Amino acid sequence: MDDNKMNDKYMHSYSNIIYVDENIPGPFEDSVEYNNIVYNLNSRLLNYCKCDSICTIETCQCLIKSGDANYEMEGYRLNFLKNTGNLSYPIIECNSLCTCSESCGNRVVQKGPIDCLEVKMCRNISKGKGIFTTQFIPRGTFICEYAGEILTLEQAKKRHKLNETLKKMNYIFCLNEYCNETQLQMIVDPSELGNIGRYINHSCDPNCIIVPVRVDNPLPKLAIFSQEDIHYGSEITYNYGSNSFGNSKEVENRKKCLCSSNNCFGLMPSDKY
Ligand SMILES: C[S@@+](CC[C@H](N)C(=O)[O-])C[C@H]1O[C@@H](n2cnc3c(N)ncnc32)[C@H](O)[C@@H]1O
Ligand SMILES: [Zn+2]
Ligand SMILES: [Zn+2]
Ligand SMILES: [Zn+2]
Repeated sequence: MDDNKMNDKYMHSYSNIIYVDENIPGPFEDSVEYNNIVYNLNSRLLNYCKCDSICTIETCQCLIKSGDANYEMEGYRLNFLKNTGNLSYPIIECNSLCTCSESCGNRVVQKGPIDCLEVKMCRNISKGKGIFTTQFIPRGTFICEYAGEILTLEQAKKRHKLNETLKKMNYIFCLNEYCNETQLQMIVDPSELGNIGRYINHSCDPNCIIVPVRVDNPLPKLAIFSQEDIHYGSEITYNYGSNSFGNSKEVENRKKCLCSSNNCFGLMPSDKY
């Protein structure tokens, strides 16, 4: 819906990469998994609130469903106080069916990325390009989505293998959510169709985290938030392995990590699906 369109002014400097500001289905595949992706992308979340402009936990169905506010409602920042331990609570933002105002504090990721991101070559050019900030970013700030084509498992495995054979960079990210004892998997590849998030590098000591956030449909957006204050000129990073099988002990085919943090594991997280 146009009045709900996110504000994303970024673009790619390569003509062969198409900018998409949110997830889209990958190439057609004749499978139940592919049909489910398309079905879910075109579905509506059933919950919405009937709040008059300001949402409060007492009455807002969106906040009640999320088990309290996930954001500091006046600062639009991730509420780390609520997060003791891991980030397993659901983030469900107010959506286009909600009657609250467009400036409701439960609308963050849907507004689009922060506007101070700069893509440039890293000092260690073997890491390729990365994203750097041209401003101070306080802890809990939404940076951008990691958006691209949503792939089926088979498509991801094929592309991953091809990337390895051609020694290309890998952009495929696999999110595993554990919810009521079931595992939901979502695989996003922004390599050819993607947003600004595709340039964020991995670090073993990252300043950001990746969090699933739902807005209008049941498929989560992969939202990147700062988990500490980030100073002008710093590189934006998250741990590629924190939400996948990335911490497995498997060493085979893992790239050397060049994050240069004091606690660098030495190898990039495994990207087996
Ligand atoms: C999502 S892309 C990140 C952007 C990429 N650097 C570029 O130039 O477009 C992921 C790829 O970047 C490189 N990369 C990211 N983090 C790295 C790290 N800590 N050490 C080495 N290479 C890294 C790897 O080649 C990885 O497959
Ligand atoms: Zn509400
Ligand atoms: Zn709402
Ligand atoms: Zn490292």
